[in-house]
Formats: sequence, structure tokens, C-alpha cells
Amino acid sequence: MTTPPAAAEPTPIVVLVSGSGTNLQALIDAAADPDYGVQIRAVGADRDGIEGLARAERAHIDTFVVKTADHPDRAQWDAALAARISAYDPTFVVCAGFMKIVGPATLAGPPMINTHPALLPSFPGAHGVRDALAHGVRITGATCHYVDDGVDTGAIIDQRAVRIEDDDTEESLHERIKVEERQMLVDVVGRLARTGLPEAPNRKVTTS
Ligand code: GRF
Repeated sequence: MTTPPAAAEPTPIVVLVSGSGTNLQALIDAAADPDYGVQIRAVGADRDGIEGLARAERAHIDTFVVKTADHPDRAQWDAALAARISAYDPTFVVCAGFMKIVGPATLAGPPMINTHPALLPSFPGAHGVRDALAHGVRITGATCHYVDDGVDTGAIIDQRAVRIEDDDTEESLHERIKVEERQMLVDVVGRLARTGLPEAPNRKVTTS
């Protein structure tokens, strides 16, 4: 009888959230399968009392909160966030509805990916769903990208398209986008965890 090969160690990640955490929940559920290859070592947030943190606690995952209001300035908040992340030594960090722009200290740490509810480079920023609806586009969606020092400008990893219906509200559209977004995030995180991050992910393409 041959011994089966030892399972590879799961890739450690930290997930950052600011809200309801349904993307986080999709990752928690996926990571329950050892074949997925991911260990969520901690969930961090910029505020307390959110469902995202409660989801982590129910799954017995470490949590931490780093609030801007608890720090004299943005640079010190950024340094504190970077320190909390690096204490868990993650291979990469997933921003899953984390509504803060991180600074140089955090960017100098492990690579970060983000999920955004629009088809970048269209409609970056905090209101991607509302802005797509207001512009009148017929197709929007979700984008997973590396985090760089811009607002939703990092190299794109994957995208999913969602058709806008005539009677869509911001809420109904966002809910449909999130269904696609969660699947995209689970697919991307698992793929990066199992195959490794590219040495030098494609950077922004500048057109003249
Ligand atoms: C997602 O659509 C994310 O892209 C956006 O906020 C939403 C977070 O949803 N920034 P949840 O907290 O994962 O439910």
C-alpha cells in the first residue's frame, strides 16, 4: 500500500473588512475544505461592532481592530495596521470590503488584493455601484486587483460581468454583483494560494 503524499501546508492569509463580511464568509466557507489550500489567520477591521468581525469570531478566527480615530494621524494608523498584519505573517492580504485607503507602511508589507464592485478601470472609489448606475452603462460587475498606492488602480487579476436591469436600484444591483464577486474572490484567492503569486504582477498599463 502506498502512502498518499502529505497535503501541502495551507497558505496563510489575513482578510480586512469594514462591513457585513459576506465576501469574508465565502472565504471562510471555502477554507473549511483542506483542498482549498488557505488558512485565514486573522480578520482585521477599521471599526468595531460589524458583522464581518462577528463572522470571524463565530469561525474562531483571530480578529483585530485598528481605528483611525485611535491614532494621531493617518501615518501612525497605517503603521499600526501594518504591524497587526505582519504579526500574522500572511503570504498575502485580502481586502474584502475594507473601506480605507492604506498607506506606505501597509503597502510595504505582504502583497494585498482587493475586490471592487465595478468593472475597473471604470467607476473606482467608494461608490462604484451607484456611479455605474448613474452613468447608464448596461453592463457592470466586479474586479479583483492588486492594491497599489492609487484608488482601485492596481493590476487587474480577474473580473465578472453583471447586466444592469431597467428596474435596478443601487441595492438590487449591488446584491447581484456581490453574488458574482464572492465567487470571483473565492476563485482568485484559492488560485493564488495554491499556485503562488506572480513575482512581479502586471502593473498599470498607461496609454498615451
Ligand atoms: C463589496 O461589494 C465590496 O466590493 C465593496 O463593499 C462590499 C462589501 O460586502 N467594497 P461584504 O461586506 O463582503 O458583504
